[in-house]
Amino acid sequence: MTDLATNNDRGSPAWWNQRYQMAETPWDTGIVPPEVHELVDSGALRPPCVALDLGCGTGTNSAFLARLGFSVYGVDLAVTALQRARTKARTAGLPAFFCAGNVADLGFLPVQATFALDIGCLHSLSPDNRARYAASLARRLESGGLYLMYGFDQDTELDSGPAGFDADEIAQRFAPHFEMLWRRPSLQGERPVAWYLLRRS
Ligand SMILES: C[S@@+](CC[C@H](N)C(=O)[O-])C[C@H]1O[C@@H](n2cnc3c(N)ncnc32)[C@H](O)[C@@H]1O
Repeated sequence: MTDLATNNDRGSPAWWNQRYQMAETPWDTGIVPPEVHELVDSGALRPPCVALDLGCGTGTNSAFLARLGFSVYGVDLAVTALQRARTKARTAGLPAFFCAGNVADLGFLPVQATFALDIGCLHSLSPDNRARYAASLARRLESGGLYLMYGFDQDTELDSGPAGFDADEIAQRFAPHFEMLWRRPSLQGERPVAWYLLRRS
């Protein structure tokens, strides 16, 4: 019999994996957000170059970037999601590699990147892991590299779910290695969210 992850395991590899196995993945829409299209269309990124997809899930955004000529390294801790991402990329013959690992320690990646994308991963990490993530990403991103990130705004009254962050937290966590270029507030349903673009100094 397989043990089921409980809410106490929230955020663990088993918990995330179970979300994918039970199809409790409302974020897994198969749609590349307009903000990603917009950044690519702006010409600010010039593939071929290396891109990281942090918390890549089933690799929808990784596949999009790989199709444009990026060498993509997707990182996630849910093996079920990674298997789906690998199948998607292999079937389409795309240069995307998917690694099981913790985004809070990217030391296992064999590359330096010029672009990093995070849609919905950082906001679910503990404060300690957020700090490690920021330091680790600073080591993996080349000077001038761009980091596009999406996350929930801070909500300290939530019983469960990602507590999110505010603009000050992001600016402070990523200083002094990153400069915030912009933050765009938005809504996901009724929950305030925001997109952030940062540049590695
Ligand atoms: C909300 S989902 C978003 C997935 C994907 N970015 C997308 O837009 O479809 C968050 C993802 O982050 C992964 N994740 C959460 N914590 C992680 C960690 N510490 N290291 C690596 N991946 C993590 C989860 O397994 C999940 O696939």
